[in-house]
Amino acid sequence: MDKFVITGGNRLSGEVTISGAKNAAVAILPAVILSDGVCRIENIPNITDVNTMAHILQDMGAGVRSINSSTLEIDPRTVRTHVAPYELVRQMRASSYLLGALLGRYHHAVVGMPGGCNFGVRPIDQHLKGFMALGASYSLDGGMVDVVADDLVGSHIYLDVVTVGATINIILAAVKAKGLTVIENAAREPHVVDLANFLNSMGADIRGAGTDVIKIHGVDYLRGTTYSIIPDQIEAGTYMVAAAATCGDVLIKNVIPKHLESITAKLEEMGVQIEEFDEAIRVTRTGALNKCNVKTMPHPGFPTDMQPQIAVLLSIAKGTSIITEGVWDNRFRYVEELRRMGAQISVDSRLAVVEGVDHLVAAPVKAVDLRAGAAMVIAALCAQGTTQIEDIQYIERGYDAIVEKLRSLGADICRIETPGPTAVMVG
Ligand code: EPU
Repeated sequence: MDKFVITGGNRLSGEVTISGAKNAAVAILPAVILSDGVCRIENIPNITDVNTMAHILQDMGAGVRSINSSTLEIDPRTVRTHVAPYELVRQMRASSYLLGALLGRYHHAVVGMPGGCNFGVRPIDQHLKGFMALGASYSLDGGMVDVVADDLVGSHIYLDVVTVGATINIILAAVKAKGLTVIENAAREPHVVDLANFLNSMGADIRGAGTDVIKIHGVDYLRGTTYSIIPDQIEAGTYMVAAAATCGDVLIKNVIPKHLESITAKLEEMGVQIEEFDEAIRVTRTGALNKCNVKTMPHPGFPTDMQPQIAVLLSIAKGTSIITEGVWDNRFRYVEELRRMGAQISVDSRLAVVEGVDHLVAAPVKAVDLRAGAAMVIAALCAQGTTQIEDIQYIERGYDAIVEKLRSLGADICRIETPGPTAVMVG
């Protein structure tokens, strides 16, 4: 049971470089299965979820070679199976992308029901609806999803909800299907666009990614490519909030400021100064924080994956703020942990009312999921005293070198390895 031990009160200052986007990487790695050549993927973050996905590909027969700490070369031509390894797959939600990728390549995919962070029901009905529209049928048996198609033929698909996962999975399944597929009410997240750009760099014909209508003309062949993953929007947002929470002054490098606009807007509303450069953003806080209301929505709305982090900031703002969770049913489980540090937050279903307090105080807390864990880190950085955070395996699923990066900004943080059974990570 490894822990982070953080003594709060240090102002973060200096520069930090953001890694490649987790949610793009976990889509692009399985997408390599569709390629007819070797792919070199650059700017890959060194995090557990991505390493698990690379292991899954290796286990299925792909050649996976590390070129340097953030570049992998993957040869998918030696993949010999349409069945994904259950033990690895169940550790992460994004393993559902193997369904679309294997279906697209072999017209048959068998993948365990995906795991991932637990914040409510995480159905895949829209993914399956898309596959069926393309001509596939599926069965669910013993926790495995089995999707098969004689032929995949382009179709018109209207998604009932805006879903990143289904949008990506349908793109993967349709990219080599016959004819035209149109996805309406598609997700517009930066990682959807990045996946489409990656596939297009191999010769796919995908248009409209980043809007709510995506058109995919199926192609027969996808060549190998070299591709660099976009910077992680949520990692950047997390450091922006950490800088604000500690009255810091931080230059956050390797970002796409456009992807951060909804976060920037909220921080400015709270009285934080933001300066934008071409590929960097500077966050400075000198005064008190104002209350503000936040509603999470699909992109370009305020991201649900920043909701726990902004809640920490609102909990030390002047006045009462309201957070409305517009994406997930149950994403306030971390509030109980934050209350242990003195936050005054009440939750009713998808609504949280945050009464600002003067300061947070250290307490032993847990990371209940990835972004909740990031929120605990931010809370500890600005709290009085020394906080211990347990279950950090969740945090390490999505934050590359978080201890080193925060230390370089002046944080007092260390990772303590304690003997004992390693917690099984089911996400
Ligand atoms: N939904 C359905 N049916 C489906 C799929 C989704 O009803 O078939 C609903 C979900 O229940 C949810 C909403 O649609 O209410 C959005 O779900 P979405 O499919 O967009 O989520 P996801 O693809 O499972 C990705 C990210 C999450 C992020 C969400 C929303 C990855 C690997 N994960 O999940 O990221 O919260 O989109 O933006 O891309 C994280 O990084 O911490 C994380 C959890």
